[in-house]
Parts: sequence; structure tokens; C-alpha cells
Amino acid sequence: MTALVMDSPLQVRASGRNAAFSPLRYPGGKAALANFFGDVIERLGISNARYVEPYAGGVGAGIALLRQDRVQELVINDIDPAVHSFWRAVVEYPDKFADLVVNTPLNVDEWRNQKHVYREANESNYLALGFAFFYLNRTNRSGILNAGPIGGMDQSGNYKIDARYNRQQLAERISRIGELSSRITVISLDGASVARQYAGDPSSFTYIDPPYVEAGGSLYLNSFTYRDHAQLAKSLDRCPDGNWIVTYDPSDFIRRIYAKHDVREYELNYSANRTGKARELLIASRPVARVLA
Ligand SMILES: C[S@@+](CC[C@H](N)C(=O)[O-])C[C@H]1O[C@@H](n2cnc3c(N)ncnc32)[C@H](O)[C@@H]1O
Repeated sequence: MTALVMDSPLQVRASGRNAAFSPLRYPGGKAALANFFGDVIERLGISNARYVEPYAGGVGAGIALLRQDRVQELVINDIDPAVHSFWRAVVEYPDKFADLVVNTPLNVDEWRNQKHVYREANESNYLALGFAFFYLNRTNRSGILNAGPIGGMDQSGNYKIDARYNRQQLAERISRIGELSSRITVISLDGASVARQYAGDPSSFTYIDPPYVEAGGSLYLNSFTYRDHAQLAKSLDRCPDGNWIVTYDPSDFIRRIYAKHDVREYELNYSANRTGKARELLIASRPVARVLA
């Protein structure tokens, strides 16, 4: 218990506006950290930085930084075939994807079709699989993939299936990403190997947001074991002088496996009309810890 009692937490000012750049809803997504990361990258003096997310999900922060030209390149890695297909399809076929966003019906029959495509998980048709993932992400309750549609199967709820699906706005986000596609690399490897590849690279900033230790399994693909968490920490032990940050839910286990590094709590402060403060752990490489000091 005592391990959680330490210095006052790092205060990080959340930027809610940044959440509006990624087309995906990600429960607990980290778009709000974009400005904080942008400032860290600046203070580290990395020019034309490559921003890498080995556990990408919605890549909220990365998309915001790229759109604001605060980073030059973006590397999106996710091992979930549906998430990977989504990013690959958006980057390679932004126009076709945007057309699907605008023209696909929003009703329970179509929801069933998309669910079927998602369940089949045929990666060779990554446009169809990526779109099915996106469709369910935008029409399901809380964006949770194994939940039902907003409003229920009988659409009797107050909010309906289209409540989080603004066609024009989402198509616009897709198109904007398409315009930046020459600066985006999409891969699907194990996150620890991507962290190993980039975390020591002086021209990269790597943000590592692995599945939580105590995650509800239904938010996203989560077969991450204690051993996986420990292996990732070991990979980072080899590059203490790289430019990287890891975030986690507060846990003594995580504090132990990152004992060689700077581990602190941080508090995300939302602007006046947003709710609450979330407290999490932030682990920083040596150069990052120096600029945070
Ligand atoms: C916490 S989420 C990342 C959220 C993201 N930072 C955002 O702001 O939206 C973790 C992601 O890691 C992916 N994932 C799980 N295990 C992985 C692994 N071994 N390698 C790479 N990605 C993995 C999941 O598919 C999920 O999208």
C-alpha cells in the first residue's frame, strides 16, 4: 500500500479538442495527452520527430500531433487484425473509406451485416474488415465491440444507432488522414518488438499505452499477460536513454517491473466543463524525466 504514497502527482492539462481528430472512439483513449506530448517532444529538441505508438488503438494523440504538424511522421502499430485493417484501409483508400462512411445505411440490419464481416475477420479484404470495425466502434454502446448497438436491437432507447455517427464529420476526419498518408506507416507486430525497434532511436518519440493490467477484457483485444507486461518492461530497460513514455493504470506490479525507471503518478485535468481527474502512472525514460523535472 505504501508504494502509492509519494510526491504529488504530475499535473497534465488535458486538451479535449484533440479528441476530435481520430475517427475511432476509444474508451480511455489518450487524445487528451497530445499537447503534453507535443511539449515534451519540443523540449527534448527532436526536430521532425517520428511519433510511434506500438499499442495504437485510436491513436488519438498521434493523429492530433500529425495534423498540427508537431511531428513529421506517425507509426501506427496494433496487433488486433481489425484495428490494423482499419488504419491500413484509411491510409491506403481514404476516398473509398469516406464513401462507405457516408453511404452505408445506419440501421440494425446493416449493423448485423457489419457484425458478420467483423466476426469473419478476413484480413485479406482489409477495407471491408476495417470498415466493419469502424462501423461497430461508432454504433455500439460505449464503442465496445461485443456490446449491442446504441438504442438496443429494437431501437427503443433514447439514443439511436446513429447517435455517435456524424457522417460528414467522420468522412472529413478520414479524408484529412488520407491527405497525410505519405507520413503514416501502419504495421501489425507485437508491440514489444516495435518498442524495441524505436524506443532507443534519437529521432523518435515512442508513446507506449499497453492494455491495462486490470482491464475489462471487452474494450479491445486483450490477451496481455503479466509475463507480457514484464517482457515489455525488460525491452525498455535496454534503452533508458531513448525518448519514451509508458502509461498504466496504478498498480504495484507495474511499479516493481519499472523500478529502474522514473515512475510517477499523473493527473489529467480536464477543462471546466469536462468531468473529473483521472490518476494514472507515467513511466519516463531518462531524457523525458529530465524535461519533466
Ligand atoms: C489501451 S489501447 C491503446 C489506446 C490508444 N493509446 C488510444 O489513445 O486510443 C491498447 C491497444 O493495444 C492493442 N494490443 C493488445 N495487445 C497487443 C500487442 N501484443 N501488440 C500490439 N498491440 C496490442 C489493442 O488492440 C489495443 O488497441
